[in-house]
Formats: sequence, C-alpha cells, structure tokens
Amino acid sequence: MTNQSAPLRAHVTGWGRYVPEQILTNADLEKMVDTNDEWIVSRTGIRERRVAAAHETTASMASVAALRAIRTAGLDPDDIDLILLATLTPDYWMPSTAALVKEAIGNQRAAAMDVAAACSGFVYAFSTAQAYVTSGLAKHVLVIGAELLTRFLDYTDRSTCILFGDGAGAVVVSASEEPGGSLGIELTTEPQGAYMIWLPAGGAKSPPSRETVARGEHYIRMEGRETYRFATRTLASTALESVRKAGLEASDVSLFIPHQANIRIIEAVAKGLDLPMDRMFVNLDRYGNTSAASVPIALAEAVNSGRVAIGDNICIVAFGAGFTSGAATIEWTADPARGIAGDAAVRASDIHVRLPLDWDSVDPIPPALAELMARDPLNVPLDDVVPGEPESAHREVHA
Ligand code: UT7
Repeated sequence: MTNQSAPLRAHVTGWGRYVPEQILTNADLEKMVDTNDEWIVSRTGIRERRVAAAHETTASMASVAALRAIRTAGLDPDDIDLILLATLTPDYWMPSTAALVKEAIGNQRAAAMDVAAACSGFVYAFSTAQAYVTSGLAKHVLVIGAELLTRFLDYTDRSTCILFGDGAGAVVVSASEEPGGSLGIELTTEPQGAYMIWLPAGGAKSPPSRETVARGEHYIRMEGRETYRFATRTLASTALESVRKAGLEASDVSLFIPHQANIRIIEAVAKGLDLPMDRMFVNLDRYGNTSAASVPIALAEAVNSGRVAIGDNICIVAFGAGFTSGAATIEWTADPARGIAGDAAVRASDIHVRLPLDWDSVDPIPPALAELMARDPLNVPLDDVVPGEPESAHREVHA
C-alpha cells in the first residue's frame, strides 16, 4: 500500500524529440567557408547537422517533441500543469515560446514560461520542474529544450557556423511517491564567462539598428578556446557533484548523457570521471551542437535505442554561455519501449503554431543556406533512424 506521507519524487514519465529533415553536411560547409571535413571531424566529431525549413520555428519543433513526450507518458496535453521551455533562440522576444507551444499542443490550463540558461537551459528547466513537482505545486511538468540556431549564425565565421544545428527534445516530469526519479542536481553559474559566448545586439543594451546589423552583431559570437577550457574544467566536476548528491559514485551511473558540443569535450568528461567512453552517449556526429535541445534529444535517443533500462542511474550534464553548467542524476523508472510508440503517434505535419493576423515575416532562411534549402527533398540516410525505431514511423515523422 502506498504510504500517504512518503515524499513526492520527480520521475521522467515521457520523452520525445524532433529534428528537421534538411541535413547540412561538412561538405556543404566547405562550399561556404574556408573549412574541410577532416578539420571539423577531428576537432569536433561533427559530420552533419539539421536545418529547420522556412515554415518551422523553435515553437513548432518544440511542440512536436513535446506532444511526443506527452504521448509517451500516456497523458493528454491538458494533464500538463506547467510548461518550461529552455531556448536561446525564441520565436519572438515576447511572448514566451512556451506560451506558443501551449496553444499548439492544445493545452488549456498550464502555466508556461521560457528558461534562459543557454546550452545548460534544459538541465536548469529540469531542476525547476523537480522543484515544482516535489513541492506539490505541479503534478506533471513538460520540460522542453528547443533551438533554431542556424538563423543566428554568421556563415562567414568558420569558427562558429560549423558547430550548431536545429532541433528539439522534451520530457514529462511527474510527481510520484515511488522511489527513484531525479536524485541529485548541481547547477553552477560563473559570470566571468559572460562574454565568451554571446549575441551582442537586439537586447536593451544594444537595440537592433541598421548599424548593429551591418556589424553582424545579431549573430552568435564565441571564444572557442576559452569555452573549451571552461567545459573541460567544469563538466566532469558538475556531473560528479550531482552524482554525489544522489548518494552515488560515478561508477554507479550506467550512462552519462552530456551536452553534445564537441567529442573532445565528452572524452575529457569520461577521462575526468575515470570511465570508458561507452558510458557516454554521443550523437553529435549527426546533429552538431543544438544548445538547449542537445541533452533532451540525446536522452530520447538513448532511451529509444535501448541504452537505458528501468533501475539504471543516468546523469544528464550540460555547460554553456554564462558560463553555466548543470547536471541531474536520475534513477530511470519508465518503460523504455514507450518512447518509440510516442514518437510514432505524433506527425510533425499535424502541428500548427498560430501566426498573427495580417503579418508576414521576412524569409527566415539565411542567404548562405538558401541554395541548400532549395534542393530537392533529401533521402534521410538509414543511419539516422534510431535503432529499434520502425522505419515507417521514421518516414511519417519526416513526411
Ligand atoms: O555549447 C557551447 C558552445 N561552445 C563550444 O562547445 C565550443 C568549445 N570550443 C570548441 O569546441 C573548440 O574550441 C572549437 C571546435 C570551436 C575550435 O577548436 P580548437 O581546436 O580550439 O581550434 P582553435 O580555435 O584553437 O583554432 C585552431 C586553428 C586556427 O588556425 P591557426 O590560427 O592555428 O592558423 C583557426 O583559425 O584552426 C582554425 N580554424 C579552422 N580551420 C578549419 C578554426 N575554425 C576552423 C574551421 N576549419 N572551421
């Protein structure tokens, strides 16, 4: 019998992901900037990334991933009490992208807000969900990481434009008195890193103007080496602190799901934790760095590909602009098989984010990508299929 006075715990009950169909390969980038496949693969591990189509937005990708997570959890959209959406590429400055997602998924009753912590955003939002759920303020929280980074890149800057891609991932965090779920969270913010990854113009300090656009200040800028140093210094220690707070050792964690920024950074985490690379989940070769979306996309793929079983301890860990870092250690309690059915239940073409009346946006596709986006629909390579995912479901998703 359930003990009525047992504390509430935060369990992951649903998960889902969405990535756009269009693929931007390293060979494509070779035609745009002075780079080459060998450099990109050896320095980052990235082979290709996804690019959102003109009709897609952060909200639309987020809504697909969100509905898939809700279906995986066996819930209806109206069961969600709170929507948290981590992004650094919102559709608009206001309203929140979370509010657009609420309408698009057909939820009538949730509170909705965005979370701004760059690439650590999903872990920050996850920790907020845990707080709401364990305090009894919410029963089911939808946590989304979604990014449309390819519209904020300078395609003349080879040090940044090769790194990033688009996509969305989501989980449902639910209250339960059963043991397990989220066991330990660690979050850090080091403001000394504030200008190491940043987007200079468009905010209150430097409102958009012809001059800011001419200077390319509406694009992401990054000090790669400093960011790399921060990541390799911090990621393993943040993960370890979260594992310790869970009352565990690193060796008790069967799979780490790190932010997918650079394979060399993930190798450094494995080394720092004294664990082999097969304890690290990696999919950055196919998606590049999708910022706040990278951890939830990787989590959904790890579960759907059979890398996570009930009773496993997993650790999600991320770092990003701020500098921020965050990690959560989770005892997995959901049936991993549910994810594939949840994905198949939601077609991207069924999701519509309402647009304002009498308003036309500019063509959102950056000129450097226009030729690529005009290409005939691509054949998505078979190795893109998550192992175990029925090919027909995959086709539907990309229809
Ligand atoms: O979510 C957080 C986001 N940020 C990150 O995770 C970024 C972390 N940093 C990194 O991943 C790496 O620092 C990079 C991948 C960005 C760069 O790798 P690196 O090994 O630190 O290269 P570097 O910046 O030290 O540059 C080495 C050389 C330079 O040439 P010189 O000065 O040695 O002649 C660069 O100009 O590589 C050159 N370079 C390139 N060459 C070919 C930089 N970008 C490229 C490129 N293709 N795309």
